[in-house]
Amino acid sequence: MSKEIKGPNLDRRGFMGASTLGTGAALVGLGAAGCAMAQEASANPAEGAPQVDFPEDPRLFGGSGTNRTEMDLRDCEVEGDWPKDLDGAFYRVGPDPQYPKPEEWEGDIPFDGEGHVSMFRIKDGHVDYKTRYARNARWNAQAEARRSLFGMYRNPGTDDPSVAGLNRGTANTQLFTHHGKLLVFKEDSPPVAMDPLTLETTDPEYTFGGKLQSQTHTAHPKIDPLTGEFISFGYEANGFLSKDVNVFTADKDGNITWSVTVEAPYAGMMHDFCATQDYVVLYLTNMAADADLIAEGGPHFRYNSQLPCYLGVLRRGGDGSDIKWFTGPNLFCTHVMGGWNEGTKITVDMDGGEGNQFPFFPSLHEPWDPVKGTGYLRRFTVDLADGGDSYEAVTIFPEITGVLARQDDRYHTLPYRWGFLQANGGWAIIDHQEGSSRVFSIDGTSLSEMCFVPRTPDAPEGDGYLIGLGSVQTEGGRSDLILLDLANVDAGPRARVKMPYRCVGQVHGWWADASAITAA
Ligand SMILES: [Fe+2]
Repeated sequence: MSKEIKGPNLDRRGFMGASTLGTGAALVGLGAAGCAMAQEASANPAEGAPQVDFPEDPRLFGGSGTNRTEMDLRDCEVEGDWPKDLDGAFYRVGPDPQYPKPEEWEGDIPFDGEGHVSMFRIKDGHVDYKTRYARNARWNAQAEARRSLFGMYRNPGTDDPSVAGLNRGTANTQLFTHHGKLLVFKEDSPPVAMDPLTLETTDPEYTFGGKLQSQTHTAHPKIDPLTGEFISFGYEANGFLSKDVNVFTADKDGNITWSVTVEAPYAGMMHDFCATQDYVVLYLTNMAADADLIAEGGPHFRYNSQLPCYLGVLRRGGDGSDIKWFTGPNLFCTHVMGGWNEGTKITVDMDGGEGNQFPFFPSLHEPWDPVKGTGYLRRFTVDLADGGDSYEAVTIFPEITGVLARQDDRYHTLPYRWGFLQANGGWAIIDHQEGSSRVFSIDGTSLSEMCFVPRTPDAPEGDGYLIGLGSVQTEGGRSDLILLDLANVDAGPRARVKMPYRCVGQVHGWWADASAITAA
């Protein structure tokens, strides 16, 4: 007998897999069936915790597989010519449901799983693997109760009363090393700080010494390669559904040096952003925070194709009063590849579709369209000196469809040559200088998002490796860590770490040189 699915739902394994058109496009045909109605009652703690029994229906939260196991594997099996001088760590994080949801919230979206961090520590040709959950307030409360206490995605009205007012952050999206800390991000909450080597949670709510002037923090901060500054922002900064966006920088020691709050045209998803040498560029998508949907017990956002997307530009170091919002072709963009400014002319490259890339969020006006959700690389330009109020956006490298754009991070804020995309289970390598592209793939293996690893800390741009996880389809999804030498792509993987199991899933990953993980 089939089971009626009450909430927005999807195949988590499909989502967490490597090949997507848009970030959520693996969910074709699963359909968001509307939203669960408001919670009427939660489990009574006095009745004791239920058995841990994840649903078998892959459309349900956790129903298509969880990992949940915190692991240590010393000396992983390494094949090929692993560079002996590579010294650093490859970190990953993704949602891994800690507990099954109560039945009324089984239709929750996979973005709501608790953040499980994994690390491949690489040194002297050896690779050690370690995973730990980000043990924040949410994780600890649920661990103590031995059950799920949080309802729908970013909807506190659906929570168990026992956790009212508790930080709901899951720390499941991206992670980042800076001033000796591994910071783990979910864009609805401050970071979680972990020890970069032991993965011990050292601060479940890291607020930069209490100086963070936002209740939220993006999953995609940047580092200015010329100064080492940490550049970041948080949307819905002053509370649930607020239009406030806090933008700030911290110095290389983590001291906040600049902080302003600006107002967006409406409250909507602002997943990534771009910093140039002189400006901060925000991008507001029409995945709008929806009070009505939230009141109905839904998952915070509803896609509204009739709302314009906005590019917001403000000067770094200013008081924020210069913020200017531009409109143009409505593109649902989620990740920035790179960007820079030449005087008042700003260029930003983002991947995105013409329409919604997250089908598990309800749509206000039309059903999800996988064609419109297909991701291409889009180049946005705006010249502040023009005095206009619109941006230009063109598709570049139209032969490549993909998502999860990356670059050699040492060139963020600057003109850049090399960019990378996850492209249908492979890795697209973009050469902006030559205007060329190619896709690296491995037969029978789906590749997750990759990171660029410089061959040496001061190697030229693009001289190094791509590192990322592969899921071997013929072996039940067993994981390989793949290292591709960009100097010899035709040779295939230079080396791989053959894991004995399917590793915990990821949204994003991060490479940290040894100098970033040993600094106190
Ligand atoms: Fe992201």
